[in-house]
Amino acid sequence: MQGNKIVEGIKLPRHIAIIMDGNGRWAKKRLMPRSFGHRQGMERMVGLLEHAFDLGVEYVTVYALSTENLKRPQEELAGLYDLIRKHFVSYMERVCARGVRLRVIGDISPLPCDVQEILRGSEQKSAHYEGKGINVALCYGSRAELVRAVNLAVARGETVTEASLSGLLYTAGQPDPELLIRTGKEIRLSNFLLYQCAYAELYFSDKMFPEFSDKDLEDAIVWFSNRTRRFGKTDEQL
Ligand code: FPP
Repeated sequence: MQGNKIVEGIKLPRHIAIIMDGNGRWAKKRLMPRSFGHRQGMERMVGLLEHAFDLGVEYVTVYALSTENLKRPQEELAGLYDLIRKHFVSYMERVCARGVRLRVIGDISPLPCDVQEILRGSEQKSAHYEGKGINVALCYGSRAELVRAVNLAVARGETVTEASLSGLLYTAGQPDPELLIRTGKEIRLSNFLLYQCAYAELYFSDKMFPEFSDKDLEDAIVWFSNRTRRFGKTDEQL
């Protein structure tokens, strides 16, 4: 397995997962609608993705919409779909220009057809890139992902091993996230990448997502770099 890159003495995580929480509260504090928070959140997401790849991170998975989020008021969901319609293609082109392949992970079939087409079209544009990747989790739930994977194995008449199950997840072929960042003051995983994050270092920030800066990302990476990752072994065995 490939090792971690060291940049100026700092060990970079190969894969970062981000739970982008707090858009709504950030907007509310400014007496603005939640949709304004999502708009700012989307801008920030693109900025962070660009910065992460410029630093040398290979994979980033962002949680944009959970299966549970689909129960939100139609007005809020419509605002998110409009954001995708207006900005997703150009924003993702900016990030993918760094040689990054985009994947949309989750079951997007409940989304409006034109939104699904935009997402699939964006994936295709970057499908020739290898080695670096963004996963945008939309209508995603980790339990549903695991059930889907097991059912794929059952349909093939196979039993699963740890390795074969990994290969049936949306993140097949990618290193597991080593650093998971959650903004917005909550300390939970919310059904995000539960299998893949078994050994991830968990970093919780009190900042709301629209105010989580490039410097905050660097601070999280420095924190990660200083962690001793034992994977069940003792210090002496490392
Ligand atoms: C959670 O904050 C955030 C979301 C449910 C949406 C995240 C979306 C973006 C960052 C931008 C959109 C990106 C794409 C690709 C559509 P919250 O709204 O639950 O905030 P709260 O906890 O303060 O209410």
